[in-house]
Amino acid sequence: MMKGLILSGGKGTRLRPLTYTSAKQLVPVANKPVLFYGIEAIAAAGIQEIGIVVGDTQAEIRAAVGDGSRWGVRITYIEQDAPRGLAHAVKISEPFLGTSPFVMYLGDNLLNKGITHFVQEFDRERPAAQILLTKVPDPQMFGVAQLKDGRVVRLVEKPKEYIGDLALVGVYMFGPEVFESVRRIRPSDRNELEITDAIQDLIDRGLTVRPHIVDGWWKDTGKLEDMLEANRLVLDTIEPRNEGTLDAASRVEGKVVIEPGAVLEGSVVRGPAVIGKDARIIRSYIGPFTAIGPGVEIRDSEVEHSIILEGASIRDLANRVTDSLVGRNVRIYREPIKPSAYRFMLGDNSEVGIRW
Ligand code: DAU
Repeated sequence: MMKGLILSGGKGTRLRPLTYTSAKQLVPVANKPVLFYGIEAIAAAGIQEIGIVVGDTQAEIRAAVGDGSRWGVRITYIEQDAPRGLAHAVKISEPFLGTSPFVMYLGDNLLNKGITHFVQEFDRERPAAQILLTKVPDPQMFGVAQLKDGRVVRLVEKPKEYIGDLALVGVYMFGPEVFESVRRIRPSDRNELEITDAIQDLIDRGLTVRPHIVDGWWKDTGKLEDMLEANRLVLDTIEPRNEGTLDAASRVEGKVVIEPGAVLEGSVVRGPAVIGKDARIIRSYIGPFTAIGPGVEIRDSEVEHSIILEGASIRDLANRVTDSLVGRNVRIYREPIKPSAYRFMLGDNSEVGIRW
């Protein structure tokens, strides 16, 4: 039986300051943690035993995910002492994985078409490894594969010089042969055991590594722009429903999900958008591609193409908020008293962009 391995350790430096207080895999896309999409994709592929590799943020991840019964799967947590690389995560998971073939899923990745047919293909062919590839405009940000006659011949992690534009998507399938390769490789320049090096070692040992080009979209949600894009792509696929309360002066246009307890007064929501549980939208405009988290309050303001996390409030702003990711319990408001000036209280590595 195949097993699943989700990597949910690591640091999340590119999403600071949010990741000072929260695991990057738990930042929500369309009001659902990124990590949950991965668990769902693995469960949908018929896999019931899932190991989750966790690091510093393990308490939060355990609290959010639990034992997996919600998805009909069994979750085993595997502690990694520090982010020593994707291949290191595989190494420490050997006791859990045993001799089962497995699918490894990076906890901050999102694939729109799921992984079921990749898993089936791997199961049928049983190569030593199967990797998913997609063309990207910025291959230096990823692991990159070179193909020859439909086979993978070379892999380079974050290549400084151009070797091609086929990036490794964060979903990999392995047979138990990978453990020997993981033991043979040495840490890279960034001092990590790289999974790309382990796969290269499989190739060097003459084992088969199958490539599969992904046709749907794929997102690595490690950065703000990617989060917003993932949010946009997922919101585009939602089924509209309204379980909240709208007054007569409010209007909802397009695909909008309104969760229970949410209240709209004198407001317009233009989808695709999601309004979280118990959120309050008062005399405001919520534009397309916006996810309003649970308990958020938007009052006399306009917000679009943004992710607003739980408990935040935005009030009385003169300009529209756009392209933004606002953390939990953040408050943005206008003060009526002079001088008319900006007053900030921002966490380390926050970013504020003022446009007009
Ligand atoms: O997203 C695809 C890319 O993911 C691939 O193209 C690259 O070949 C692959 O190395 C990886 O690159 P990143 O630099 O984006 O990986 P990142 O450090 O963001 O880690 C990916 C996930 O794995 C993330 O959810 C954190 C987790 N992780 C990472 C490391 C290094 C662990 O659980 N343990 C670790 O030691």
